[in-house]
Amino acid sequence: MAELKTQYLSLNLKNPLLVSSSGITGSLSGVRQCASAGAGAVVLKSLFEEQISAELGGAGGSLGSAFPVEAEGYLEMLGKTAGPASYLDLIRQCKQEISVPVIASVNCQTSGWWTEYAQQIEQAGADALELNIAIMPHRQDQTAKDLEDRMITVVKQVRSHTTLPLAVKIGSHFTALPHTVRALKDAGAGAVVLFNRFYQFDIDPVALKPVPFNRYSSSEDLSRPLRWTSILAPQNICELSLTTGIHRGLDAAKALVAGAQTIQVASVLYKKKIAAVGIILEELDSWLDQNGYASVDAARGQLAQKGNYKPEELERIQYIQAITDKS
Ligand SMILES: Cc1cc2nc3c(=O)[nH]c(=O)nc-3n(C[C@H](O)[C@H](O)[C@H](O)COP(=O)(O)O)c2cc1C
Repeated sequence: MAELKTQYLSLNLKNPLLVSSSGITGSLSGVRQCASAGAGAVVLKSLFEEQISAELGGAGGSLGSAFPVEAEGYLEMLGKTAGPASYLDLIRQCKQEISVPVIASVNCQTSGWWTEYAQQIEQAGADALELNIAIMPHRQDQTAKDLEDRMITVVKQVRSHTTLPLAVKIGSHFTALPHTVRALKDAGAGAVVLFNRFYQFDIDPVALKPVPFNRYSSSEDLSRPLRWTSILAPQNICELSLTTGIHRGLDAAKALVAGAQTIQVASVLYKKKIAAVGIILEELDSWLDQNGYASVDAARGQLAQKGNYKPEELERIQYIQAITDKS
C-alpha cells in the first residue's frame, strides 16, 4: 500500500481526496458520511455572501439595489433560516464530532461587510476557509483588470480578518491565469482551487428563459483543470487543488502527476453515492503501487519533473498535428 498522507494549506491530511463544497456537505450527517467514507478533508457547502449581508442588514450591510425586491426577500429569508448563525453551528458540530479537517466555504463577489464574518468562522473552529469567488463579466464597461482587482481586494480584505489558511476557488476563464494565480497568492491565498463548475447554461426556447442543465460533471470535464494544473504546478506559485471531473482513481492519478496537491469531488458522489470516496482512494492506491510510487508525494508533479515537459511547445505541436492530421 502506498502512503496517502499529504499536507494541504498546512493541514495534515490522511489522503489528498477532499469532498468538495456541495449539498452533501451542508449538514452534519452528510459531513459524517464523507468522513466515514475516508475523505481526507471536507469543504462545507458554501454560505453566500448575500446570506451574510442579509443578516447584517440592520448593522449596515444592506444588499443594496443589485437585486430585485423579490430576490432580496428570498435572500433575507435564506439568511434567517440557513444563515450565518446556523453555519457557525455546523462548523462547531463538525469539529466536535469529525476527526478530519473541516474547511468552511463562502461564495462571494465583493469585499463588503461580510468579510468580518471570516473571524467568526475562525472562532467557530474551521481549519481553513475556501472563498468561491464567482464574478461574471456581464457589462461592457468592466475590464478584465477591474474584475481581477475585485477578486484580489476580496482576498486581501478576508486575509485582514482571519489567520485561517485561505484557498480561493476560481472559474476557468482568464486571459493570463498564471499571473492571476500569482496575484491571489500575493494577496494571501495559500491555495487556488481549479476550477469552480458554474451552473451550465441552457435556454428554454418556448418559455423564453434561461435554465440550468447538466448539473453533474463526467471524467471528460477533467481536461481543462488538468491542463491548467500541469501548466501552473511547475511554477510553484501556491498549492493547487483540482476539482471538476474526478470520477475514478485514474482521474485522481492524472491530477496528481499534473501537480495537484489535493483533489476534490462532488458529482461522482451524487451519481454513485458517498461510498465512491473509498473506491477512488482504493483505485488510486493500486495505481500508485502498480506504477512504483511509494506515496502520493512521490507521484505529485511527475509530469513536469521528467524534465522534457514544456507545455508551450508541446501543446502547440499537438494542436498543429491535430488539425493537420488527414486521417
Ligand atoms: C449539487 C452541487 C452543489 C454544489 N454546491 C457548491 C457550493 O455550495 N459551493 C462551491 O464552491 N461549489 C459547489 N459545487 C461545485 C463543487 O464543489 C465542485 O467544485 C464542482 O461540482 C466540480 O467538481 P465535480 O466535477 O466533482 O462535480 C456544487 C456542485 C454540485 C454538483
